[in-house]
Amino acid sequence: MASQEGTVICPGSYDPVTNGHIDIVTRSSAIFERVVVAVVNNPVRKDKTLFTAEERREFIESATAGLDNVEVRTFSNLLVQFAREIDAKAIVKGLRAISDFEYEFEMAQLNRKLDPGIESIYMIASPQYSFLSSTGVKEMATFGGDVSDLVPGPVAAAMAGRLGAR
Ligand code: PNS
Repeated sequence: MASQEGTVICPGSYDPVTNGHIDIVTRSSAIFERVVVAVVNNPVRKDKTLFTAEERREFIESATAGLDNVEVRTFSNLLVQFAREIDAKAIVKGLRAISDFEYEFEMAQLNRKLDPGIESIYMIASPQYSFLSSTGVKEMATFGGDVSDLVPGPVAAAMAGRLGAR
């Protein structure tokens, strides 16, 4: 049962969502009253996404359907602006290995500079997901690797359809 009042935001590209992301969202939902998963819908990122923002949102929505205090939204503005819009008091992200640290350190400092009122909280990835990334999963699927243990079922099926044809 969630004990911390208020809203937190779990932002990301989620292209696609992995079981590691779902683990972080599930653990957040056990702590905080309301969790908004925020999918970046933004061509700021030069790299083209495999799935549209709406597809990415739907994958997360179906994977978190059993979690009553989780909502999934897309956003196109600055993360801290969107966090304010939904009244989030903190950003919650997963941290896997040392390699994540440098990027996340920069993002946390950037977001703090933009809005010191929004805290960044990092949750250490569960060991079974500490190697898992959206990029790695896409690479595996591209070459016919089995990703069914790594992503929600509908994501695995959609990747097989989209990447298998390449
Ligand atoms: O883990 P990701 O997918 O690279 O993280 C995405 C996000 C939005 C959490 C990260 O890029 C971030 O914290 N950006 C801060 C700057 C910002 O608000 N950019 C606009 C959206 S990309």
